[in-house]
Amino acid sequence: MLSTLAVAASLACAPLLSGAAESATDKQAFISDLIGKMTLDEKIGQLRLISIGPEMPQPQLLKEIAAGRVGGTFNSITRAENRPLQEAAAKQSRLKIPMMFAYDVVHGHRTVFPISLGLASSWDMGVVEQAARVGASEAAADGVDVTFAPMVDVSRDPRWGRTSEGFGEDPFLVSQCARASVKGFQGSSPANADSLMAVVKHFALYGAVEGGRDYNTVDMSLQRMYQDYLPPYRAGLDAGAGGVMIALNSVNGQPATSNKWLLRDLLRKEWGFKGVTFSDHGAIDELLRHGVASNGREAARLAIEAGVDISMADSRYLEQLPSLVKSGEVPVGLIDDAVREVLGAKYDMGLFQDPFRRIGTAAQDPADVDAESRLHRAEARAVARKSMVLLENRNNALPLKKSGTVAVIGPLADAQIDIMGSWSAAGKPKQSVTLLQGMRDALAGTGKITYARGANITDDTRVVGYLNFLNWDSPEVVQDKRSPGDMIEEAVRVARDADAIVVAVGESRGMSHEASSRTSLALPGSQQTLLKALKTTGKPLVVVLMNGRPLTVNWEKDNADALLETWYAGTEGGHAIADILFGDENPSGKLPVSFPRSIGQIPTYYNALRIGRPFTPGKAPNYTSQYFEEDYGPLYPFGYGLSYTTFSMSDVRLSATKLARNGQLTASVTVKNTGNRAGETVVQLYLQDVVASTVRPVKELKDFRKVMLAPGEARVIEFPVGEDKLKFYNAKLEYVAEPGDFNVQVGFDSEAVKQARFTLE
Ligand code: NOJ
Repeated sequence: MLSTLAVAASLACAPLLSGAAESATDKQAFISDLIGKMTLDEKIGQLRLISIGPEMPQPQLLKEIAAGRVGGTFNSITRAENRPLQEAAAKQSRLKIPMMFAYDVVHGHRTVFPISLGLASSWDMGVVEQAARVGASEAAADGVDVTFAPMVDVSRDPRWGRTSEGFGEDPFLVSQCARASVKGFQGSSPANADSLMAVVKHFALYGAVEGGRDYNTVDMSLQRMYQDYLPPYRAGLDAGAGGVMIALNSVNGQPATSNKWLLRDLLRKEWGFKGVTFSDHGAIDELLRHGVASNGREAARLAIEAGVDISMADSRYLEQLPSLVKSGEVPVGLIDDAVREVLGAKYDMGLFQDPFRRIGTAAQDPADVDAESRLHRAEARAVARKSMVLLENRNNALPLKKSGTVAVIGPLADAQIDIMGSWSAAGKPKQSVTLLQGMRDALAGTGKITYARGANITDDTRVVGYLNFLNWDSPEVVQDKRSPGDMIEEAVRVARDADAIVVAVGESRGMSHEASSRTSLALPGSQQTLLKALKTTGKPLVVVLMNGRPLTVNWEKDNADALLETWYAGTEGGHAIADILFGDENPSGKLPVSFPRSIGQIPTYYNALRIGRPFTPGKAPNYTSQYFEEDYGPLYPFGYGLSYTTFSMSDVRLSATKLARNGQLTASVTVKNTGNRAGETVVQLYLQDVVASTVRPVKELKDFRKVMLAPGEARVIEFPVGEDKLKFYNAKLEYVAEPGDFNVQVGFDSEAVKQARFTLE
């Protein structure tokens, strides 16, 4: 009795839960004080993140929270859902420690923005930041505190379905996007009521799973890791992200979830990360299947020892940590360390100050959570317009005239769910604008739109039938019951009567998602047949691609009059695509990934290491590194994208040909808009270390500028080049710039470049 009273008394006068103090010292004191008051069970409760859903019915969840046995939840997306949970924690639990609410807000929340690959295609960090900012403000208004984003896994293998979730293949571009994204999600502080705490994922190297098969092994040299795969995580953390999500894969023989080197030596010691780490879904349990733990007890011990603070949807911590601590196998200090990070994150999000800061009062709840007025359509449309990449435009097939008849065809032309892409958070398909709708709106009163579906996404029964892969979660892909022949016949009829054909083809969103690895990057056969039939009409054929990864669009490249990559463009996708097709927006996106010619050619990333027998264009291919059945190099290179205007670039000028240590020179080019309409392009700077102590890439992106030029306007674009841009990890993993020659390449893509050379002294 006495001790209960003592706890109650200490709480009553504690500085704790009334108002959060400002400084880091105050924060540490506050947290240490709180930890000092916690029982072991309460501490372990803070490490538990529960998925809202069948895992636990709400009455039981409320009891668990009130008993101090839950630190947070994820997947609930309204204030009304989160309020009772927060009340149970902040009002009923003994220490009144607030909950945190997390969700995968990856590319928007209620308003869906283009998928991350599309955002990266803008090469405009303002655009990337804005998508994150709007997503954060909408999710925060729904009572969410934390987002499991940005996803910054560099991916060089498009067979991997999660390519769609990331920002592409290049360490520099992905790092820039990581920074912009974190800035957007967190705003000036994760404590702001309209901000989310960002959780950089998946640490580490998830994008390098062997064969692009999801969840597969990663085995990689330290040089490659440090040079190419780790920088984006580091960039996100340096930008202030409060959390890290640990990858599901193993890294050089040790699952990331039990990888002390990764989570303690690299993340905490080398990088000085001070935030909180989350396991991925059920990953502690998966240590058994990885074969590094023989039972749940061992799995929990390995994970806490490695530095996994929060266990996501996994009961091993809850079941095993109490007795592991009591038996002395796990020092309580390890638990305290993890709890300190969890409480620190909650403190940083302002939750101790006001647990209801993002939940508000019931009276403030929106009458209709799905109300139109809660969406940010104008922002989504503006961002989507910047995310599209024009791949072909023969004889100026685009822009289309706003008159006559346009036949809109294809299985993705009117697919509200697919245009949102995967991980579309709280987005509602019924609120997304399809291409068909966007075209109708654009042509209203001036021309006519006709429509035919033309084909199913795929007729492959293995994909739409086998254990119902694409419809596993919900019935997303609805097969048209007509025969393929009937559908094509109708489409050809509609096309014949039109002045131009706009055909939307690609992947349903479930084909570019977690666990959606592919062995082919071609359009499914049903859609190829449709395209070929439409081609026979002789009408201008505009192919609009909707997909979450590079596709091997060889036939489409050669036969389409225009080819536009739109990825999954989000809630306002249909309007934004129509804006481009009719020329209200001049396309300015550039590919953040290389497009291979065939699956056999993978990997095709542009910044490969140099080799001894490179293929040389124009010379016999024998005994050079190539595939003899097809042309060398990608179908479309990294950085590529057309505009409705044209640009020229001067030779590269260097302000000096010698660079002193700590010095700086300027590489400049004059870029001119040589066409007759205003447009934006991306001027890209690549560097190549001519001779080094280890093999270096053929080139690496080191800087870029997106510039808008009026017709006839010319501008000098300057890139500062200092020692920092020349550094790399040598064989001893020292980050150094070695003296010698460097080639500076500037271009509108990674292949079409102008070159100059300087020497680092
Ligand atoms: C598993 C995914 O790998 C991860 O990216 C996601 O954040 C979690 N599930 C939670 O939804």
